[in-house]
Amino acid sequence: MIERPRRLRNNEWIRKMTRETRVSANSLVLPFFIRHGKGVIEDIPSLENQKRYSVDTIVRGVEEGLKAGVNSFMLFGIPEYKDELGTQAYAEDGIIQQSIKTLKKEFGNDIYLITDVCLCEYTSHGHCGVIKDGFVDNDESLPLISETALSHVLAGCDMVAPSDMMDNRIKTIRATLDFHNFTNIPIMSYAAKYSSAFYGPFREVAGSTPQFGDRKSYQMDYHNRKEALKEVFLDISQGSDVVMIKPALSYLDIISKVSEKVNVPVAAYSVSGEYAMIKAAAKLNLIDEYCLMCETAISTFRAGANILISYYSKELAAAIIKGDIG
Ligand code: PBG
Repeated sequence: MIERPRRLRNNEWIRKMTRETRVSANSLVLPFFIRHGKGVIEDIPSLENQKRYSVDTIVRGVEEGLKAGVNSFMLFGIPEYKDELGTQAYAEDGIIQQSIKTLKKEFGNDIYLITDVCLCEYTSHGHCGVIKDGFVDNDESLPLISETALSHVLAGCDMVAPSDMMDNRIKTIRATLDFHNFTNIPIMSYAAKYSSAFYGPFREVAGSTPQFGDRKSYQMDYHNRKEALKEVFLDISQGSDVVMIKPALSYLDIISKVSEKVNVPVAAYSVSGEYAMIKAAAKLNLIDEYCLMCETAISTFRAGANILISYYSKELAAAIIKGDIG
């Protein structure tokens, strides 16, 4: 027999030598939730092993990330007060704005800070934009979303990541940042963000479940694949530097298709429900958590992602350093 594919699987070294997918801890981003208060490091019941921090304790969270080999972080804020217009999202002394200042003062350029730009954690109704006649009004939302992005940049973040899925937001944010001379701050757009039940645990953490209706009038319908390309190309044409696909696991086909078609880096967001499912199955002893974490993460890179946003980033960095993956 000439063809014996098993020759390249004979032992660990040849398997590792011939791996087609290479990853590095530099490709990983770890999300953090920050709330009001002081001295807070609290468990999150729906997301085992993840914490909610306050502005003063988030330094500890980042320290642990750095120790594990992760340098990039994504910040989500949970404000004390919510209102119709989500004013805490763009307040100068808002949770995220304060956190950025604290972290940049402590770590400077040793960390790369990406901020989620959205209104849903800050609005009383839980939607990602302004409500007019019971509907999320696209164009009325844009100034508030770009104001939020600008306030993060003024506080010192390195990159903004708008997740609202309003039309034309990338153009508006780019114009706002450029107008204020922040021409060098990149935008990572949540370009193909699907309306997904995988966000359940996140919404519990952030208290951002819509108070009426759902997000289907702005987030994408999971039946659609071509539409992802439409969204991605629109965002790139408006100034998006990195495009994100979200969720990851049920959307590997989208990651694959998009990464073949675009000439910008592609990020995948392995969301809260994906993490929670692995944790829950592991608790029931149905699967091996570590192995499944590694396998699912590598599948996103194999599909074509260049960047992975994951609640497992610290553990994945350790697995890379150990040589189990990558
Ligand atoms: C804000 C936002 C959400 C997530 C990231 N940014 C929630 C949503 O759209 O409902 C979800 C992240 C996760 O589930 O881990 N719009």
